[in-house]
Amino acid sequence: MKRKISVLAAVLLAIGLTACGNNETQAKHDAAQTVQAESSEEVKTTDNTEEEAQQVETSEVASNTNDEIVEDTSTENTGGSEENSGVLVVYFSATGNTKGVAKKIANITGADTYEIRAAQEYTDDDLNWNDSNSRSTKEQNDLAARPEIGSDAISLDGYSTIYIGYPIWWGEEPRIMDTFVENYSFDGITMIPFCTSSSSGIGRSGQNLADNAGSGTWLEGKRFGGGASEDEIKSWIEGLQ
Ligand SMILES: Cc1cc2nc3c(=O)[nH]c(=O)nc-3n(C[C@H](O)[C@H](O)[C@H](O)COP(=O)(O)O)c2cc1C
Repeated sequence: MKRKISVLAAVLLAIGLTACGNNETQAKHDAAQTVQAESSEEVKTTDNTEEEAQQVETSEVASNTNDEIVEDTSTENTGGSEENSGVLVVYFSATGNTKGVAKKIANITGADTYEIRAAQEYTDDDLNWNDSNSRSTKEQNDLAARPEIGSDAISLDGYSTIYIGYPIWWGEEPRIMDTFVENYSFDGITMIPFCTSSSSGIGRSGQNLADNAGSGTWLEGKRFGGGASEDEIKSWIEGLQ
């Protein structure tokens, strides 16, 4: 507050001096600019502090209630930092079910998360499995289809375990998952597939991903229903160790 008052006083002083005469115009202009610079620096500092406070608030909420995590888009893609937790949950989710499971895994394990988003988001029409011409049907019918990823790339440095999740589409992994695994090296990393589906099992999807990745130690994956409980997920994770 004191600083604001002194900045305001300096501005008034600069304006007052400007009115005094032409021969001092340049010097006053410089002074006014200095004040303006200080003033905007202060605004910037204030913004940052508020932003930081909001981030702290958000992450506190995120670690407390799981439902809020699922809806909290600001905590997406926490992975890739230099000092990471060593565990990462990578997921693609077109309608939110896999995302819900992914967030629960992250909550249980303390993992970072990374969401694979399609460069061209899937619309409802794209996801219509009753339409043999829909985008998803065409992609799933084409083993070589590799939809482009729109999320920023992530550094996998420091991760030793990656949970990798996706919905089952036509009994398999969505082709965008193949785009992902073909773009990264998983050397030295334990890869743990998980998926959600209406009723199908995980099928060959985990093996397909392992084959296309060509690196990493891939564990057998696990299928969940869209509304899998944290207890169910926790007992699966405990069984892995
Ligand atoms: C194009 C498409 C194909 C699907 N194919 C299957 C399938 O073969 N078997 C199944 O049980 N569910 C299938 N589903 C349902 C999804 O696997 C299920 O709703 C999943 O939980 C969606 O996850 P998401 O909300 O993370 O996208 C399909 C859904 C879509 C959109």
